[in-house]
Amino acid sequence: MSDKVFIFDTTLRDGEQVPGCKLNTKEKIELALLLEELGVDIIEAGFPISSPGDFESVKLIAQQVKTATVAGLSRSVEKDIETAAAALRFAAKPRIHTGIGTSDYHIKHKFNSTREEILERAIKAAKFARRFTDDVEFFCEDAGRSDTEYLARVVEAVIKAGATTVNIPDTTGYCLPQQYAEKIAYLINNVPNIDKAVVSCHCHNDLGLATANSIAGAAVGARQIECTINGIGERAGNTSLEEVVMIMRQHPELNLHTDINTRMLNEVSQRVADTMRMPVQANKAIVGANAFSHSSGIHQDGFLKNAQNYEIINPDEVGAAGSKIVLTARSGRSALAYRFKNLGYDFNRDEVDVLYEAFLQVADKHKEVDDEALEQLAKTVVAETN
Ligand code: KIV
Ligand code: ZN
Repeated sequence: MSDKVFIFDTTLRDGEQVPGCKLNTKEKIELALLLEELGVDIIEAGFPISSPGDFESVKLIAQQVKTATVAGLSRSVEKDIETAAAALRFAAKPRIHTGIGTSDYHIKHKFNSTREEILERAIKAAKFARRFTDDVEFFCEDAGRSDTEYLARVVEAVIKAGATTVNIPDTTGYCLPQQYAEKIAYLINNVPNIDKAVVSCHCHNDLGLATANSIAGAAVGARQIECTINGIGERAGNTSLEEVVMIMRQHPELNLHTDINTRMLNEVSQRVADTMRMPVQANKAIVGANAFSHSSGIHQDGFLKNAQNYEIINPDEVGAAGSKIVLTARSGRSALAYRFKNLGYDFNRDEVDVLYEAFLQVADKHKEVDDEALEQLAKTVVAETN
């Protein structure tokens, strides 16, 4: 049996921090219930101290979500933690997510502090959070650039103080997959009480490595991945939920699984994009409009012979509308014949040759040749050849 990786969705917190993506309470509740239906294990509902509106959203989500754990973010500040606890009071499964920066950048230039002082603050925060719930996650912000031995000391101390999940964020998206994996492996192999906590990956995408880093972390023993739908999040975004889930599904050799209902991925992606008014890029893995589209002649011919020549995922598995053969000036004869067949025309090889020349004239003038243009072509060419 493969190991389960917990999916911690932060679309409503890290994702919602994106300029223009702010949601009202009703929208946040609707998306939280959808995420629960999708099968995420933990929903980070917001940052309760940040505004009265966010407090209210977290409170209402906590009341309505029944099966998933609901998390609220806080800094390592008592007032923050108390406020998060108050917002989560009615949650069936509340989690306080607290933490502090552990890199020397953050220690010196954000807190004007020292490693020892930060360690003390971290311990105090984890202990204080445990007064309100048994489920405490501690984040070591900028862990990606933190000194690994110091990070290990913080992780050991916060677990001793009561943290049940330790979050190792690559906050600035700096690490290479191997570096991130080495950091996680170091913690797993050197922190004496690490077996008392779940290790979590929280990766940002500044170098386009968020997904690769999260999978690298899970491959060496992390058992929670923090991610967002469509990969939205601060700056270049967070790890994309749909990508990590499908990587684990497509690669059984990783021996990892999640409880996500993958058939809902496209629907949820669209709902998040519409609600947040943040369109999904067409070439986005799994959920982009072109994720199952084939437009060059070589690919189309291979795909039509056997879909697996050019598709590693069955579109049904992720709830996509289906594979598409798109006609452009780069398309070939077999794709043209296929599309004509779908429209009810069964042209022979010689007819397709004639139609193909006419098609190229049209295709060179337009980005894509649609059904209407194909019908027109068929009529003209048929009329000319009769
Ligand atoms: O990127 C980050 O470090 C975060 C923490 C607040 C968890 O979002
Ligand atoms: Zn983050």
